[in-house]
Amino acid sequence: MDLKINGRVQPLPEHASDPAMPLLWALRDGLNLTGTKFGCGIGACGACTVHLDGQAVRACVTPLAACEGKAVGTIEALGSAAQPHALQLAWIAQQVPQCGYCQSGMLMAAAALLAKNRQPSDADIDTAITNLCRCGTYPRIRAAIKAAAAQMAPVAGKKAAA
Ligand code: FES
Ligand code: FES
Repeated sequence: MDLKINGRVQPLPEHASDPAMPLLWALRDGLNLTGTKFGCGIGACGACTVHLDGQAVRACVTPLAACEGKAVGTIEALGSAAQPHALQLAWIAQQVPQCGYCQSGMLMAAAALLAKNRQPSDADIDTAITNLCRCGTYPRIRAAIKAAAAQMAPVAGKKAAA
């Protein structure tokens, strides 16, 4: 089976291509994309959040079969050292991470939110991002999302609020 991953089509190795296999397993064990983390394995914590056709999904409960023909995006392609995503710059400026384990998932969930909403309120952020952080970085995450949003161009077709 092939996976459309981070902008290119990649074949999955034999041991990571069962359609019933969770996407998280294929990413980590099949493609060595270990930026996406395993936390709970039951869709509860969000550490494994990736994008599927731009939507934030939990890779531990998303079977490979559900990814057929869709674009998967992982933290490895959110930005680069040369061209970081606005969220990554804001994360550094706000010193968001503590232990860091939840942070890839948080960033991917935040990126999916900002792709649709460039002026998220605290309530919007709390509704869209139900990921868990045992270190309690939630206030800094909210601040970083708002700082990044302020640096990004408005979503096409949406007017900025007065
Ligand atoms: S590891 Fe997927 S939601 Fe926790
Ligand atoms: S930074 Fe430690 S779990 Fe979130």
